[in-house]
Amino acid sequence: MPSRFYVTTPIYYVNDVPHLGHAYTTVAADALRRYHAVRGDEARMLTGTDEHGLKIARSAEEAGKTPQEFVDEMSARFRAAWPLLSVEPDDFIRTTEPRHTALVQELWRRIAAKGDLYKGSYEDWYCVGCETFKTEKDLLPGNVCPLHLKPVEKVREDTYFFRLARFQERLLALYKERPDFIQPESRRNEVVSFVEGGLKDLSVSRTSFRWGVQVPGDPAHVMFVWFDALANYWTALGKDGDPLRRFWPRKGGDATAVHLVGKDILRFHAVYWPAFLLAAGFDVDELPTHVFAHGFLTVDGQKMSKSLRNAVDPLRLARELGADVVRYQLLSAIAFGQDGDFDHKALFARYRADLANNLGNLLQRTLGLTTKYLAGRAPAVPHDALDQDLLGGEVRELERTAAGLWDGLEIHRALEATWAIAALANQYVDRAAPWAAAKRGDQARVDVILATLLEILGRLSVMVSPVLPNKSEEMRAQLGLPRLTPRVGHDQWPREGQDHRGEALRTAEPLFPTFDKEAEAAMLERLVPTPDVAVEAPATPPAAQSAEATPTPITYDQFAAVDLRVGVVRASLRVPKKDKLLLLHVDLGEPELRVIVAGLARTFAPEALVGRRVVVVSNLAPRDFGKGLVSHGMLLATGPSDALALATAPDSAAPGSRLK
Ligand code: MSP
Repeated sequence: MPSRFYVTTPIYYVNDVPHLGHAYTTVAADALRRYHAVRGDEARMLTGTDEHGLKIARSAEEAGKTPQEFVDEMSARFRAAWPLLSVEPDDFIRTTEPRHTALVQELWRRIAAKGDLYKGSYEDWYCVGCETFKTEKDLLPGNVCPLHLKPVEKVREDTYFFRLARFQERLLALYKERPDFIQPESRRNEVVSFVEGGLKDLSVSRTSFRWGVQVPGDPAHVMFVWFDALANYWTALGKDGDPLRRFWPRKGGDATAVHLVGKDILRFHAVYWPAFLLAAGFDVDELPTHVFAHGFLTVDGQKMSKSLRNAVDPLRLARELGADVVRYQLLSAIAFGQDGDFDHKALFARYRADLANNLGNLLQRTLGLTTKYLAGRAPAVPHDALDQDLLGGEVRELERTAAGLWDGLEIHRALEATWAIAALANQYVDRAAPWAAAKRGDQARVDVILATLLEILGRLSVMVSPVLPNKSEEMRAQLGLPRLTPRVGHDQWPREGQDHRGEALRTAEPLFPTFDKEAEAAMLERLVPTPDVAVEAPATPPAAQSAEATPTPITYDQFAAVDLRVGVVRASLRVPKKDKLLLLHVDLGEPELRVIVAGLARTFAPEALVGRRVVVVSNLAPRDFGKGLVSHGMLLATGPSDALALATAPDSAAPGSRLK
């Protein structure tokens, strides 16, 4: 009986466009799906979009759209993005779909029936300007809203509470009984101490806005967006009795369900989600098998602020370099489970070392030798006559190791083991020296060496397939091997005795063409965001940001559409917990001061800006930084983020004067 393997990504908020952080989890999930499929498991991957909640409703409003129009449009971008990275999810769920909302309501009902939901009221700080609750940590000293600079009020709202506190012991027992429920271990320890510290009941409904799933039987309430979102992993498999339910773990069953999440949302998945399921009557064996938290990516050593995040568009990278190269870099350069850096220079170094000079070179020289000495035909050598020292020894060991590492979600180490095989094979070419055997006229030895190499390449084409699905196909085509088609119950991971040799070989373009220094520099220039993107820019759709390095000419009308104004900074404040940002109130000659959030804090103390004349892009669409912080314009500046120079205007120019 084949096993079932169900892997999920978080469902992404649609107030953002797909970025490298999203791509990271999604590519990892796809690679795991492909690995399990090739092992003969029934593998299934789920991704999707998280579309409810106040934040999304607000973003829709700012975009001048109805929430439904907005989420339809934004969700479509995520759906369209993943194939460009050769990600092929089996399902894409949207939390606004009826198949989801109906089952979330069902889950709610089950929990309510067990008595773990009760109605109460919730009291916290409320900013009328923002129309939202704020917790103390979001406020400026004196309980002042950072956006409106007005004191907030204490307000009560009716809410349903989930009896989370009741689940403390059961959760701790779960973590103890199933030590691999939360991975990696360091993250598990964090969650355990959090739960040991005590749990409070959780507010799980809201009455102050409507964009959410209605609470069954109480239409004044919509569900807390995380309740709605977490349930997607279960709702996507359909109702009780639906065939897809076979992917959900059950007692004595053979299904494994893995939730891949970023470390920032681990608590929701490792504490709230199992508690919801237990409350709904699920048994410990019917919980997800693993919740795996990966780390956060920086880009070229910098934190992925919103502007940087959008400047490093994973789809543009895939267009320039090919999906497989981006996938390989994401999965090999960053230890899965730890924070890591997506470094563009390192990407090129890794491309050269691992892809071009190791794997690509092995294929090319083997095919080259086959053309030269065997007229391009694979030699017919029985399996046990191949060089078993290599094949039966280190290679076989590495194949096993790699499989174990994939099974244990240690993706980067699985890739290391795989590439170690290619390195061994390259050394073998030099050591075995088929050219010397040919010179001696020892054709039998030439056959054995090349057949051994072709065998290793065939095996490698399987082993690299989860991460390099396209290059794996290219390799197989060149090796004269059939397409790799996963079949349930048919484990294709290389094993002793499998015969992968093809007949007519085909030399083609190198698998990974190398480019010279100049071409590399030009590509780096196109791909790497310029260092003076210091003032936070608004989220731009990927299509609009292709040419930072070589500006595209624009018409006068396009220029004239940008409303540049002279502004005078009247107030400047630090933004709590955002070390780069300042919140400015800028006089643009309008009846009210403009609130502008700018990435100036590394260069300027807040007070140094008061009274400064600045140049403001005044008609930029508002940009939401979360927690009620919205910027209504952008300042022009140049230089690195810790030594910025502001664009300015002469004293004679009154606030609000237009620059043209
Ligand atoms: N909608 C919720 C998830 C609900 S799942 C039931 C959400 N969405 S999100 O779009 O904000 O984030 C999705 C994922 O992107 C998170 O796992 C988060 O960790 C990840 N990342 C965001 N920035 C990231 C990096 N810089 N690096 C790696 N992952 C990052 O949260």
